[in-house]
Amino acid sequence: MNVSLRTPIASDFVAIASWIPDAAAGLRWAGPRLPFPFAASDLSVLLAVPGGGEASYSLIDDSSKPCGFGQHWVLRPGAVHLGRIIVAPDARGCGLGRVLCQQLISAALHATSETAVTLRAYRDNTVAVRLYSTLGFIEVAEESTDDVLFMKMLANNSFHGAAFGSP
Ligand SMILES: CC(C)(COP(=O)(O)OP(=O)(O)OC[C@H]1O[C@@H](n2cnc3c(N)ncnc32)[C@H](O)[C@@H]1OP(=O)(O)O)[C@@H](O)C(=O)NCCC(=O)NCCS
Repeated sequence: MNVSLRTPIASDFVAIASWIPDAAAGLRWAGPRLPFPFAASDLSVLLAVPGGGEASYSLIDDSSKPCGFGQHWVLRPGAVHLGRIIVAPDARGCGLGRVLCQQLISAALHATSETAVTLRAYRDNTVAVRLYSTLGFIEVAEESTDDVLFMKMLANNSFHGAAFGSP
C-alpha cells in the first residue's frame, strides 16, 4: 500500500475521532489536555499546542482514506518534537506506524531544519516504545518520569531530503 502525508481535511478528523474509543486511549494518544469525549469538529483546535507552531498531518492510503495522524512542533530550539502519533485501529501491526513515523520525521526535519527529534511515550505503551526504539530513539533519563519516557534521536542523512517524501 502506498501512503503519504497531507494536511488534514475536516473529514479526516471525523475518522481520527472514531479511533479514540475511551478516555484511556485519548490520554495515551494525546496526553492529559485532550478531554474525552470530544467533538470531531473540535479536534483540530483541541490538538493545538500551547504556544502554537504545530504542524499536523494525516497519513492517507491510495484511495485518500486516512489511516494515520501525527504532529510536530518545536518544544525548544535544537530539536523538533513529534506527538499525537496514531494509526487506525484496523490497520495496526502492518508496518504503517513505522512508515508514518519515518515520513513524519522527514517532514519535521525538512520544515524546521532542526538536527534532532524528540517525543514522549507512556512507558507501558510497549508497541510505541518498541517502534520508537527501533527507529533510533533513545531515552533521555533526566527528562523522563516514572510514567513517561522522553526519547531523542539525532537526525541522520536517511531522514533528510526526499528519502521518505515530504507532504
Ligand atoms: C503505536 C502505533 C502508532 C504503532 O502503529 P503500528 O502500525 O501498529 O506499528 P507497526 O505495525 O509499524 O509496527 C512498528 C513496530 O512496533 C512494534 N510492534 C507492533 N505491533 C506490536 C505488538 N503487537 N507487540 C509488540 N510490538 C509491536 C514492533 O517493533 C514493530 O516493528 P517490527 O514489526 O518491524 O518489529 C499504534 O499502535 C497506535 O496507533 N497506537 C495507539 C495510539 C498510540 O499509542 N500512539 C503513540 C503515542 S506515544
